[in-house]
Amino acid sequence: MRIDVLLGLQWGDEGKGKLIDVLAPDYDVIARFQGGPNAGHTLEFDGIKHVLHTIPSGIFRENKLNIIGNGVVIDPLIFKKENDSLLKLGIDIKKNLWVSRRAHLILPTHRLLDAASETMKGKTKIGSTLKGIGPTYMDKTGRNGLRVGDIERHDFKDALQALLNKHAELLSFYNHPKVSKDDLEMWLESISTLREMTLVDSEYEINSLINSGKRILAEGAQGSLLDIDFGSYPFVTSSNTITAGACIGLGVPPAAIGKVFGVFKAYCTRVGSGPFPSELNDATGEELRKKGNEFGSTTGRPRRCGWLDLPALKYTAMINGVTSLMMMKSDVLSGFENLQVCNSYKVNGQPSMRMPFNVVNEIPEPEYISFKGWQRDISKTNSFESLPSELHTYIQAIEKYTGIPLDVVSVGPDRTQTIIRK
Ligand code: GDP
Ligand code: IMO
Ligand code: MG
Repeated sequence: MRIDVLLGLQWGDEGKGKLIDVLAPDYDVIARFQGGPNAGHTLEFDGIKHVLHTIPSGIFRENKLNIIGNGVVIDPLIFKKENDSLLKLGIDIKKNLWVSRRAHLILPTHRLLDAASETMKGKTKIGSTLKGIGPTYMDKTGRNGLRVGDIERHDFKDALQALLNKHAELLSFYNHPKVSKDDLEMWLESISTLREMTLVDSEYEINSLINSGKRILAEGAQGSLLDIDFGSYPFVTSSNTITAGACIGLGVPPAAIGKVFGVFKAYCTRVGSGPFPSELNDATGEELRKKGNEFGSTTGRPRRCGWLDLPALKYTAMINGVTSLMMMKSDVLSGFENLQVCNSYKVNGQPSMRMPFNVVNEIPEPEYISFKGWQRDISKTNSFESLPSELHTYIQAIEKYTGIPLDVVSVGPDRTQTIIRK
């Protein structure tokens, strides 16, 4: 059996959490492979909304094993809070969650270093979620990090102190306040929740699950345009958010990858700084934000909004090897008289279909084609055939441009508001 991957093709918040929850019944295992609590994955069912940050989005489905892979970075304090709120709903994650020993730990000082780095950057700041993601991955690649498995060591406190001392020096270089005793104490206490979990050498477990025929769905966080290598660098996150990241973040060989589900919004959003060619800084952008309720799931910040960007979509579909497109928030486009879609760029006055290397100084100028909108509410539509003909035309254009079938159309935030074509 192979492992399928579901990930975002834009700048994050495409609706990955919702779809993982919808598709989970078809799988035995759901595994997160990168990122950390910078993610906010929203699920809605039975009139209740849940936002998950570290815990995989299969947690609400019974008898599914959820795994936090080695590529994820974990803040024990946020993990504890997630655990506590799930317990209140009667979900005991200990029963069906495994955590990789190789996943790195986010310390309270990583969060402070994130803030210090952003302050230092001033106007050029990334707009980080300030969850300590960048500094934690820096310690990982700098070979200084602490991993979940280290909490089982008898000398964990010494190793922790050594890293805290290093961070204290860096913070004083930045002239940034030190970590408070209370914050450190709270963080240390929260480690006990992580200790109660099943800690595993997840690469062995996942490969053996694959070999025994179990169906595994890998859950991406962020989006491909935030990928550390292929995103709009430096306005990116610090992990590989693409399909290849699933191999690294779970320890599975490339040949084990099966289907790749590429999730995108019927328009575009971005939260934080960085280039956004099809951004709308006008009343239409405001309308998209209002109708789409475009405010960050993790930070509450308003999301920047704009039209669908096809060259960017084709680029990320290429890098990920997407086999199936899944379009979210189609309902938000109802009521617009006309819809614009970027189908090529102008870079330095020259037409181009490519994302340029330096998108920061050469923001591609979008060239648009226009589509007729549809006026009726589609949020209760439950078959592809009953969708408006204008939306069929919109979908056909996306399939033609990318050469990839569009198999899912989402028409609302609830589990049930999902049209699956095959
Ligand atoms: P993720 O990070 O990719 O899981 O996405 P987020 O949860 O951060 O953001 C997606 C938002 O859109 C959430 O508030 C979802 O409840 C909501 N959502 C998902 N699909 C749809 C849809 O088809 N229509 C509407 N109106 N909202 C949706
Ligand atoms: P999900 O999984 C949207 C953005 C931040 C910032 C940049 C770097 O919910 O789609 P970081 O904290 O990683 O150093 O921030 O990346 N960002 C996200 N934007 N959705 C996310 O996750 C994001 N995770 C990070 O806003 O611009
Ligand atoms: Mg999100």
